[in-house]
Amino acid sequence: MSKIIVVTSGKGGVGKTTTSASISMGLALRGHRTVVIDFDIGLRNLDLILGCERRVVYDFVNVIRGEATLNQALIKDKRNDNLYVLPASQTRDKDALSQSGVEQVLEQLKQQFDFIICDSPAGIEHGAMMALYFADEAIVTTNPEVSSVRDSDRIIGMLQSRSRRAELGLEPVKEHLLLTRYNPERVASQEMLSLADVEEILAIPVLGLIPECGSVLNASNKGLPVIMDETSHAGQAYQDAVSRLLGEDKPLRFLDVEKKGWLKKLFGGN
Ligand SMILES: Nc1ncnc2c1ncn2[C@@H]1O[C@H](COP(=O)(O)OP(=O)(O)OP(=O)(O)O)[C@@H](O)[C@H]1O
Ligand SMILES: [Mg+2]
Repeated sequence: MSKIIVVTSGKGGVGKTTTSASISMGLALRGHRTVVIDFDIGLRNLDLILGCERRVVYDFVNVIRGEATLNQALIKDKRNDNLYVLPASQTRDKDALSQSGVEQVLEQLKQQFDFIICDSPAGIEHGAMMALYFADEAIVTTNPEVSSVRDSDRIIGMLQSRSRRAELGLEPVKEHLLLTRYNPERVASQEMLSLADVEEILAIPVLGLIPECGSVLNASNKGLPVIMDETSHAGQAYQDAVSRLLGEDKPLRFLDVEKKGWLKKLFGGN
C-alpha cells in the first residue's frame, strides 16, 4: 500500500522543501520506492535542492494537461534509483492544478511507488490545498516562533476539515510535528519557543526536531539533500525523523544547548 504524505506549514520559508528533499532521500536510501512532487507552481525550488534542475523537460502541469506522460516528466535521482522527482511548472497560472488532474496523477504514481511526498507551497491558497487534499499523513513543518506555530495550527484545521479523508469521513490524516530551525541557545534565552511550548499549542505527536544548522544551506547550494551529509546535525536529525516515520523508536537529539569541550571551543564546528 502506498502512502501519500504532505509536507505543509502555512507559513513560508520554514523548511518544507528542505524537509521534502531529505525525507524523500531518506526513505529511498532505506529501499523504499519514493517520488517527491513539487506543488509550488511558479517557483520550482525542489529540483534545485535535489540537484536535478538541468534535467527538467516536462513537469507536473504538462502531465495534468496531457502534454506529456507521467514517465516523460518523472526525473530519476542521480544518486539513488529508488528516488524520483516530479518537478513544478514555471507557469504563472496558479490554478493549473485541477483536483481531478492531481487525483489522476496520484493514482498512477500509487501503482509504482511506496511513498508519495507532496512538497506544499506556503499559505492556504489553491496549491497548498491541492497538496494536502489527498494526503494520508502530514508533516506539519514549524519553526519555534509564534507566527509559524499560529499558521501551522491553521493548517491542522484544514487537514481536519478540508482533506479528502475529512470530507469522506475516513480515518483522519495522521499528523506529525516537525520542528525545524531549532536553536537551543535562543530557546534558553527565551527568544524562541521551546519544543514543549509548541507541542502544547499544536497538540500533535512529534516526528522530529531539526536544529538550525549551516550545513543546510551548504548542502542545498551543492544540490544535495542535507540528509546525505552524515556529519551534519541537521542530516542526523532528518535520519532520526525518517526512522520514526517508519515506526522506529528514536530518542530526540539536539534539544539542549551543547556543552562544548575545549577542542570545540577552540576550533568551533557543529
Ligand atoms: N535546519 C535548518 N537550518 C538552517 N537553515 C535552514 C534549515 N532548514 C531550512 N533552512 C533554510 O531556510 C530557507 C527556507 O527553506 P525552504 O526553502 O526549505 O523553506 P520552505 O518552507 O520550502 O519555503 P517556501 O514556503 O518558500 O516554499 C532556506 O534558505 C534554507 O536553506
Ligand atoms: Mg518550498
